Amino acid sequence: MNLFDVYPLNDIEITRAQGSTVWDAQGQAYLDLYGGHAVISIGHTHPHYVKRVTDQLNKVGFYSNSVKIPLQVELAKKLGAVSGKLDYQLFLCNSGAEANENALKLASFYNGRKKIIAFKGAFHGRTSLAVSATDNPKIIAPVNETDNVVFLPHNDEAALRAAFEAYGNEITAVIIEGIQGVGGIKEASVGFLKLIRNLCDQYNAVYIADSVQCGYGRTGKFYSHDYAGVDADVYTMAKGMGNGFPVAGISIAPKFKPWHGMLGTTFGGNHLACAAALAVLEIIEQDNLLQNAEAVGSYLISELQKIEEIQEVRGRGLMIGIDLPEHLSNVKKDLLFKHQIFTGEAKPNVIRLLPALNLTKDQADQFLNKFKIALKG
Ligand SMILES: Cc1ncc(COP(=O)(O)O)c(C=O)c1O
Repeated sequence: MNLFDVYPLNDIEITRAQGSTVWDAQGQAYLDLYGGHAVISIGHTHPHYVKRVTDQLNKVGFYSNSVKIPLQVELAKKLGAVSGKLDYQLFLCNSGAEANENALKLASFYNGRKKIIAFKGAFHGRTSLAVSATDNPKIIAPVNETDNVVFLPHNDEAALRAAFEAYGNEITAVIIEGIQGVGGIKEASVGFLKLIRNLCDQYNAVYIADSVQCGYGRTGKFYSHDYAGVDADVYTMAKGMGNGFPVAGISIAPKFKPWHGMLGTTFGGNHLACAAALAVLEIIEQDNLLQNAEAVGSYLISELQKIEEIQEVRGRGLMIGIDLPEHLSNVKKDLLFKHQIFTGEAKPNVIRLLPALNLTKDQADQFLNKFKIALKG
């Protein structure tokens, strides 16, 4: 049997990883500013994480949601405390798409409506409703085409107001990333998020904050939407939550009332997933990783802004987009193959930095030095 070939691959095999360093099969070290796509939040093979997951595996790895799992309750309490949303409720699942899928379903159950507002440049995942709310026709299969999703221009307050005036009583939810990731590190403005909150209140629509990539402390606040100073109704999260263990969740405002069977999953919230997620939150809290993400991220952004070859630097904390001109489109590959630095990318020519939240200033400097050399060719 062959693999179903859907991923363009770099010819590198990672065989070992620690902190923000990964090693290939030949023993070559790389600085990891990609974190396997914003997934590695507390650094690779963090000792506390390895111990908590290993200890749990030796007790019980999995049992289904048909029995009590006190680790889920512990995780909900910890997540409430670290995120500052103490009275929210937690539903656990397995991936970012599944989190958004459930958030959108929950909204529709709540107000009985069907129309979803999403934005140009948005990426919300590849399952059916999540992909319908994703602004990329290439990955929307015919069966996922729907009139229920309306795409509005990002950060366009007039267009949002006009949509609510025209059919506000049909809108079930507005879904928005705090900072668009796949879309190229584009931040939702404070005014825009506040307007979403106001309009959702006015029309009884649900404000869904997709925090799958921009959340979990990456920007210096637990959810990047928090910079707007208003609460969303539902926060979706995944990537950084398990530091590589597949675990995702939605944090749900108290006004939503659950009923048995409303949402569900086989694997979501299993013992191992909870142990991984708890280990991540414990390290985030103990090592002040929100503060570190903010400090090292601000340093990186201000140093990058001094580099004249760069067209624009965008983002917050450790979610940074570097817009390069067309003639420097080789830089990302050079960083990897000549300078041994993993970074992410976005179309057309954006380098995305999504490192672990405990990246050090020294590692940031290593990147800056090599990046400046790469820019010179
Ligand atoms: C903002 C956002 N939402 C949702 C997803 C989907 O997450 P997953 O790949 O875990 O399904 C992603 C993945 O890149 C994302 O960036």
